[in-house]
Amino acid sequence: MENWRQYVSPRQRDDFYYELLAGGTKIKLFESFVDHGLASMLANGPMSAGALAQKLALHPLRTYKWLHLLSLVGLLKQIENIGAVGGSDTTYSLTPLAQALFGDDGTLGSFFKDSLFYFKACEDTDLNAVLEGLPLPYAVRWPPQTIEAAAHLEWWMSISSRGTIHAIEKAVDLNKISRLLDVAGGDSTTACEIVRNHPRLNVTIFDLPHSASLAKARIEHGGLADRISVVEGDILALDGLPEGFDLVLWSRVFSSWPIETVCTLIVKSYAALLPSGIIVICEPMLDYNLPLALSAEFRYLFYDDFGAGVYKAESQYEALLTQAGFNITCKQSPDEESFYSVIIATKPC
Ligand SMILES: C[S@@+](CC[C@H](N)C(=O)[O-])C[C@H]1O[C@@H](n2cnc3c(N)ncnc32)[C@H](O)[C@@H]1O
Repeated sequence: MENWRQYVSPRQRDDFYYELLAGGTKIKLFESFVDHGLASMLANGPMSAGALAQKLALHPLRTYKWLHLLSLVGLLKQIENIGAVGGSDTTYSLTPLAQALFGDDGTLGSFFKDSLFYFKACEDTDLNAVLEGLPLPYAVRWPPQTIEAAAHLEWWMSISSRGTIHAIEKAVDLNKISRLLDVAGGDSTTACEIVRNHPRLNVTIFDLPHSASLAKARIEHGGLADRISVVEGDILALDGLPEGFDLVLWSRVFSSWPIETVCTLIVKSYAALLPSGIIVICEPMLDYNLPLALSAEFRYLFYDDFGAGVYKAESQYEALLTQAGFNITCKQSPDEESFYSVIIATKPC
């Protein structure tokens, strides 16, 4: 009994408990902040608590408490020396972090807005009933089953691609690469950007038919059909990937699949590469992105097509790469521009 005392102090136990409760508090506050359009109300400058309560037709005392809490979680800043704390004269502005999330007009960016919508649908579903086997009411299928679902996914990927492209171009000298296989390369947003920036580079995209058709349309529209080709295929099929490349890129693919699948895909990449060719993995690693992994994998509880533990640590990728015969040649951690890590491994000559 009381064995825990060897590892945990009473203070750590209590902090842990209140951190768990604070997690629920934060999401409720954030959702109410969005639902009431507070960011757009404050986009033109600070307002007093009294004016905000009046404009939103809310209970005054509860509004004062709510605004104070929003300042504790970092969405609002209480302006010093104007009015007493917690009263109708207390004045609030948006914090720089809230401005970054909501932009100049106070509207949540499309990617955040859409992902919050999906998060909320899961949050509002009875988790205990789901664990007991409730048929999933909003199950997102993986991979997407229809052209509409594929277009929605690829739209998400395209509008959020800046961080991955930055991380890949920073880690890899693409001027030294001439044949790149972008496996599950989506609608070709990444391929189009990197071939424009690197004149020697040619890319082959390999993806399922719906995403491949979106890629062909974008490539055609960009006038890049002589530099980027598209092959329709299924990474899970028994046959291998196209072969003869000096770089095989996996960007934002492995965090959707269980480790056994990723192991097979790394082995397939080895066969697709020329001797001295490199595999490049660009993912949010668990080591640096616990909040992202927690919130994504919470959603995946409600989608049976996703397995357990799909966000992985750097060391798990390193072990798989080494086991497949690769030598790890570069590990790049996230920087201020992007939460993605990049691991590069080389196939021996
Ligand atoms: C999260 S998106 C990433 C797209 C792109 N690599 C990027 O970083 O923008 C995952 C991609 O995996 C593709 N995909 C999923 N299952 C696949 C499968 N079985 N075979 C081939 N591609 C698949 C999807 O169509 C989608 O384009």
